[in-house]
Amino acid sequence: MSYSDEMKSVAKTMVEGSRGLLAADESSPTLTKRFDALGLESTYESRRNWRQMLFSTPGLATWISGVILFDETFRQESTSGVPFPQYLASLGILAGIKVDTGAKPMAGRPAETVTEGLDGLAPRVAEYRSLGATFAKWRAVIKIEEKTLPSRAAILANAHGLARYAKICQSEGIVPIVEPEVLMDGNHSIERSFTVTSEVLQSVFSELWLQEVALDQMVLKPSMVISGKGASNRASREEVANLSVECYRNHVPGSVAGIALLSGGQRDREATEHLAVMNRAKALPWPITFSYGRALQDAALESWATKKYDVEAAQGHLAERAAANHRAASGQD
Ligand code: 13P
Repeated sequence: MSYSDEMKSVAKTMVEGSRGLLAADESSPTLTKRFDALGLESTYESRRNWRQMLFSTPGLATWISGVILFDETFRQESTSGVPFPQYLASLGILAGIKVDTGAKPMAGRPAETVTEGLDGLAPRVAEYRSLGATFAKWRAVIKIEEKTLPSRAAILANAHGLARYAKICQSEGIVPIVEPEVLMDGNHSIERSFTVTSEVLQSVFSELWLQEVALDQMVLKPSMVISGKGASNRASREEVANLSVECYRNHVPGSVAGIALLSGGQRDREATEHLAVMNRAKALPWPITFSYGRALQDAALESWATKKYDVEAAQGHLAERAAANHRAASGQD
């Protein structure tokens, strides 16, 4: 099979059958912050044990098609000595890798960020592929501030980075997840989120087209069109779902393999409900599924802390959220 046939097949597998992705690719500093908040110690070993607990959840492959890993986990082994990419593959779950090196303050515009990591990306991706990665992720971050942000300069720089990354991944035989996240932080209205998300997606697809990225060999991971966290009159779940689908229909070509949403700080049940309502829309051109981080892991992590590393209890929480999102991706409550 050529790279492109293989990548088409991987991209389909990632989003089909109402299965979704588990984003367990928090960098070590980010996971340490989450552990600290619950009084958990963060070490190389404790992070491995947490991830091993997640990945060994009975039945995980029923709901989860792929797991996004951070470099540290990607190179770690299960307690039985199997590297995690191979461990996941043995369960029928694809292993993915976060390859950006983070959103860094933009020169001259310190309130905004540009995601870095293009230098040396091709050989890094080739190495990850040789170690079992079938897909990758790059997250760009766009911040809304009423009337002032985002700047056109930040949108274009981030869209360009996403497209360069996606092309490099495809040249090396790995499916790119293209993640432009418009943050929920702030008190903006859902209408403003709609306008900004529309501009961002339009810019991203224009850059993807320029770089000749094959759309049937990538997965889009967008944020939802949603009111800011601090907005006074937050939009209903129907408005969020309907405006999100309208925005994607306007700006995401039908040849894209699929849309796998991020949760972006929504409460876990809220993220599931939004996904369910979106999937009741008629004649969607692409599958819409989930690629949640916090909305899949929050309850499990709290249990991990309060029940002192009780594996079964924490796995029960992950299974519950993963199964609920699997149902939601097929339009059921
Ligand atoms: P959240 O679902 O917690 O937003 O995380 C998804 C993700 O992968 C962020 O890059």
